[in-house]
Amino acid sequence: MNNELGNIVSEQESVPQDTQRKDMAMQTIAVIPGDGVGPEVIDEAHRVLRRLGETDGVQFDIVNYPFGAEHYLRTGELMPPSVLEEFKQMDAILLGAIGDPRVETGVLERAIIGGCRWKLDMYINLRPIKLYAEYLCPLKDKKPEHIDMIFVRENTEDLYIGIGGHFKKGTQDEIAIAQMIMSRKGVERAVRYAYEVARKRNKRKKLTLIDKANAIGAMEIWTRTFEEVGQEYPDIERDHAYIDAACMWMVKNPEWFDVAVTGNMMGDIITDLGAAISGGLGIAASGNINPGQVSMFEPIHGSAPKHAGKGVICPLATHSATQMMLEFLGHDKAAARLDTALTKALTSGEIKSISTSSGMKTAEYTDVVLKYLK
Ligand code: IPM
Ligand code: MN
Repeated sequence: MNNELGNIVSEQESVPQDTQRKDMAMQTIAVIPGDGVGPEVIDEAHRVLRRLGETDGVQFDIVNYPFGAEHYLRTGELMPPSVLEEFKQMDAILLGAIGDPRVETGVLERAIIGGCRWKLDMYINLRPIKLYAEYLCPLKDKKPEHIDMIFVRENTEDLYIGIGGHFKKGTQDEIAIAQMIMSRKGVERAVRYAYEVARKRNKRKKLTLIDKANAIGAMEIWTRTFEEVGQEYPDIERDHAYIDAACMWMVKNPEWFDVAVTGNMMGDIITDLGAAISGGLGIAASGNINPGQVSMFEPIHGSAPKHAGKGVICPLATHSATQMMLEFLGHDKAAARLDTALTKALTSGEIKSISTSSGMKTAEYTDVVLKYLK
């Protein structure tokens, strides 16, 4: 992982000389609290990181970045290229949430989340879908052993590239175009990564390709690449589902999935469905990964402006993102301990719901997790 660091410098907070070394015990993390409930969940992440320092000897050097709506409205700055360069020197990035009703839809998201994904080539969006406790699942008779899969979403191409626009905007003759691209390189690296995940995970050793090649002919590039790369992974069972059918199976038979790989747009949509069947956005996390390079971890939920500042948001998705970050950084033991703490917290009976109307305060969720992260 990205532990081969030389100098770590930041405009926000300078890092003391003695921490500027290649040392797995000291991890430099860029933190972007962002908008809405973002700062609240990031405050909770700090508590978990501090505890891991005490119990697991992993020290985190946190460098805070102000990007988001407030900063944009005050300064006009979104995500300066110099900061993206700075991020390359970090071990990882932890993001709270981005999005604010005061700013035109998509401006912040594209510049900050998209900026990191594209400019730092975080070409994988890794989204585990894991049911920690039965009561979190809205599906009848589905238990933790039925919902335990991981989605590999291609993260830099497809309909997200921003090529297109409007012609005769605002008239009756208006035409809007959004181009979808799928490069061999982009598809192949996502597919290969997914095969590796299926192998490393060592569970069902099954990889499902999800696409819509029956209607979108060009998507055959996925089918072909999946088959070709699959020859190198004879130990992994190859499976296929069209996106519409996959949505149905996710609800009817989620136990059929082990690892799934899909494009950017379909992956965005189906992983929200995945979040829903595993307890909702209060628990789902994702990693934007450029293997071996700086990568960014975040809760899947958005900035939820209507809940901001009330202390009602569940921070468990952020703790789950922290867990993924630890794994990515190679702190397998600390990651496993945090995973166990999350499982225990959610099955102890102390947490009855992770919805914003649960009556539980943001910090109280973390209190329970910390109790099991001794
Ligand atoms: C996600 C989000 C983003 C996406 C938005 C905020 C651009 O929904 O991370 O899933 O569509 O990728
Ligand atoms: Mn999404």
